[in-house]
Amino acid sequence: MKPLPVTQETEQKLFFHNYARLPIAVTHGEGVWLVSDKGIRYLDMIAGIGVNALGYGDNRLVEAISNQAAKLIHASNLFMMHPQFELAEKLLELSGLSKVFFANSGTEAIEAAIKMARKWAGQFRVPEKKKVLSLSNCFHGRTYGAMSLTAKAKYVDGFEPLLPETGMIGFNDIADLEAKVSDKTAAVFVEVIQGEGGIHRISQPFIDRLKELREQYNFLIVADEIQAGCGRTGTFFSYTPLNAEPDLVCLAKPLGGGLPLSAVIGSEKVADVLSYGNHGTTFGGNPVACAAGIAMINAIREDNLMENAKTIGKYMNDELQKLAAKHSRILEIRQYGLMIGITVNKEAKYYVGKALEKQVLVNATSVNVIRLLPPLTISREDAQHCITTLDEIFTEEDAE
Ligand SMILES: Cc1ncc(COP(=O)(O)O)c(C=O)c1O
Repeated sequence: MKPLPVTQETEQKLFFHNYARLPIAVTHGEGVWLVSDKGIRYLDMIAGIGVNALGYGDNRLVEAISNQAAKLIHASNLFMMHPQFELAEKLLELSGLSKVFFANSGTEAIEAAIKMARKWAGQFRVPEKKKVLSLSNCFHGRTYGAMSLTAKAKYVDGFEPLLPETGMIGFNDIADLEAKVSDKTAAVFVEVIQGEGGIHRISQPFIDRLKELREQYNFLIVADEIQAGCGRTGTFFSYTPLNAEPDLVCLAKPLGGGLPLSAVIGSEKVADVLSYGNHGTTFGGNPVACAAGIAMINAIREDNLMENAKTIGKYMNDELQKLAAKHSRILEIRQYGLMIGITVNKEAKYYVGKALEKQVLVNATSVNVIRLLPPLTISREDAQHCITTLDEIFTEEDAE
């Protein structure tokens, strides 16, 4: 039988229509470059939506995956497995927290954290201490619990009814925070740097007040580090510079080096919240994904990639500020390490298409924000190539 052509037409026939895929089929990658089946090389400033921290073809990652795959691909959590233990130890050392739970995706980590928060709150026997709050403009995932915490109508509309006893606090709105939390609050979920929301960081006063209110009302702070974590912003956790001191931390995206893996890490306060059979997942902590995660963290350390995220991020910010001064369509640049948002005065989708024509992959988020999430390995030359391409696009548009 002839293989099916990998085209948009076939895609429409085969799949539910939930992904707006770009009109290219990719076959492999080399460093920060992704290569299509037509042999065209694309500078990848999206990195699998923030997953491919080491870029493509890192030997250490490939070796760790193949060695572990040759030994044991899956056994389930009926057993103890070395890679899980080693990765858990690393995450506890990096976070200073007490316990780890492994799952497979970001939304599953959030789901587990919601369950942990409700169960933890249940021990205080305060009637109705069940409320789980999040911040406006946030994104936490697409399963029912995570979706119920997610702000945007486009992710939620048509799927109601949502999880009861959830609610939203205005982003960085301290008065609203004070009005919404109470002794009925089980947890407040925060993305310290909102990704899908357009690259916005929580303010220090908001975090400080949130921590004070946690003391007053005894609830959990849950940090969703799924997009901003694992070194992308220059520290392993994006909450570190704000000293957020979360009780639960959710990690995913780059954690498995490109394989599906997520984690919830918890403080001593929640260490005993789960008991046998309370929660679990067949594939969670898969040994191949954990081996990849160990290799990924080792490589971040060996190659000083958090430092690179800081240096190249700052370089890109400086260069983008120059572009903003030159092109009036650029309204604002927000940069935290290699998590960069460029607000423009029209739909960002337009620029995604223009960049694709010039073999540079960027992404649109929050309607009018161009988002850059390149591999943490990106060089100054490749970063400059992205800037030059954006400059060309805006210059050509100005000339139209
Ligand atoms: C901050 C944040 N939380 C949760 C998720 C959901 O993760 P996943 O797509 O792995 O379920 C994402 C995904 O983009 C995210 O950026």
